[in-house]
Amino acid sequence: MKVLKRTHMCGELTKANIDEQVVLNGWIQKRRNLGGLIFCDVRDKTGITQVVFDDKIPQELFDKADTLRSEYVVGITGTVKERESKNPDLPTGDIEVFADDLVIYSKADTPPIYIKDDDNVDDNLRLKYRYLDLRKKKMQDNLAFRAKLTNLARTYYAENGFTEVETPMLIKSTPEGARDYLVPSRVNQGHFYALPQSPQTFKQLLMVGGTDRYFQIAKCFRDEDLRADRQPEFTQIDLEMSFVNIDDVIEVQEGFLKRVFKELKGIDIETPFPRMTWEEAMNRYGSDKPDTRFGFELQDITDIVRECDFKVFTDAIDAGGSVRAICITGGAPVYTRKKIDKLTNDVKSYGAKGMVWIKKTESEITSSVNKFFTPEQLGEIADAVGAQNDDLILIISDKNKVVYDSLGFLRRHIAGEMGLLDDNKFNLLWVVDFPLFEYDEKEDRWSAMHHPFTSPKDEDAELLKTDPHACKANAYDIVLNGVELGGGSIRIHDREMQEDMFRALQMSDEEIEEKFGFLVEAFKYGAPPHGGLAYGLDRLIMLLTGEKSIREVIAFPKNQNAQCMVSEAPGIVDNAQLEELGLRMIDDKEQ
Ligand code: AMO
Repeated sequence: MKVLKRTHMCGELTKANIDEQVVLNGWIQKRRNLGGLIFCDVRDKTGITQVVFDDKIPQELFDKADTLRSEYVVGITGTVKERESKNPDLPTGDIEVFADDLVIYSKADTPPIYIKDDDNVDDNLRLKYRYLDLRKKKMQDNLAFRAKLTNLARTYYAENGFTEVETPMLIKSTPEGARDYLVPSRVNQGHFYALPQSPQTFKQLLMVGGTDRYFQIAKCFRDEDLRADRQPEFTQIDLEMSFVNIDDVIEVQEGFLKRVFKELKGIDIETPFPRMTWEEAMNRYGSDKPDTRFGFELQDITDIVRECDFKVFTDAIDAGGSVRAICITGGAPVYTRKKIDKLTNDVKSYGAKGMVWIKKTESEITSSVNKFFTPEQLGEIADAVGAQNDDLILIISDKNKVVYDSLGFLRRHIAGEMGLLDDNKFNLLWVVDFPLFEYDEKEDRWSAMHHPFTSPKDEDAELLKTDPHACKANAYDIVLNGVELGGGSIRIHDREMQEDMFRALQMSDEEIEEKFGFLVEAFKYGAPPHGGLAYGLDRLIMLLTGEKSIREVIAFPKNQNAQCMVSEAPGIVDNAQLEELGLRMIDDKEQ
């Protein structure tokens, strides 16, 4: 079949093209036959142009145009004319193309989803017919934006002395903390590769190997519960630098983000970005990824209620927890009983057993705990959190983690409901001074908060031997509008310190050898001081394009059940394939 040589993209024609003979290739968005005239909207990734078949063309061509249906793939030649009645909704609404030839490349069945940016179709249907979904201009724009960003990353890091290196996909488990995707080995039966959760260990080996500055746009795989900003398969902009301290790493990143915002969004962002300690972030925002676009900061009222008659508060305090509040400006009239009940239910998933509310109006103070507090006591709490008339105070008392998680969720959730999350505001900040370890309640043991190669802060180096869990880490996260965009650390490069670290994690020598033997061995032969960071590329693009989920910026994402709806992965394999790998399905009887 003859393919017409395109002269223009559909979305690019303007009045400057009037009277030109043009050739367009694309899809039929819609067709209308008004008797003597047939109008077709022809679409490609840049947009839509209206094409007209009038009665001056040969009847045969007119009849052919009349057979066109949505999503037919066509080539059209014609002349650009000024439109008499402009279409203000179309960027090309000033012009139309009068066709003099038409090639139908493909016919199409009625598509199961409309090719329209704002159709409200079920997500799984969109994902099943992703190739149709991708025809939407918004989706093509997102892919193009992604490509621009990765190009810019390559340019920027190359200009700053970084070498792009690919690291293996079939590796041994990485210490990132999520579940691995495993790949059985045919050649080494009974052995498994893991798909990398990140290139962490390999980028450190590259530093030992003298690469000095490494960069990669790296695919990562983590078998964890999915959320709007989490996919089982995602991409990092990953980098590592030798002979650096925290400020060196941060300076390079601020230069990168400054350029991203300038070149891709036309926005000048101020550097250096604010830095906030982990402790301050938790105390003020209840989160290690604070959204600083709005207030509703957490306030500790433990001391005020310490002696009160309300056992829920005093029990939490006696158990070493705290009582904290957020004050929602103007929230009293907005949040009805029913809405507050919903919030109380929401925080249960963060471990909160309940939530106390106080409403302050001009005439009175009401609350869910009227029975336990005098109006004066409620007034004291309201004053302490700076409540004005019409404000709503929400209080959680529990272990600190539950209090932080619940109030951290509430402040952002409520800000969203009250329309306070401004998509045009980009609040970037660094969270620093993380604890080196965190206590894992489920597993009842301490684990590294970032990963076991993260170094303690210089002043805490001795503590690592004596009171390791009190150490702060040389770790940093970059946060944008309440989303963790990236994280990294200065690594341990000293063998003795690495051993102390493993000991603090209560790892046996066998375990160390089994998990990280190769890295420990490499460090014997001269490791430079080094550190780095990885950005979640999908998250960065999501925020810059104003999307609500990273699925919108990934060509073929997985659904909520980690399935690829297009190819129907994961799938069943036949027994012969399993046998070759030395594997067998356990049937129900055997279990
Ligand atoms: P970390 O585990 O913090 O660090 O990951 C870095 C960044 O990757 C993004 N991210 C994800 N994005 C989408 N889906 C996921 N499931 C997902 N998990 C993480 C986040 C996160 O900030 N090797 C270290 C980095 C280092 O120390 O240099 C690492 O992977 O934006």
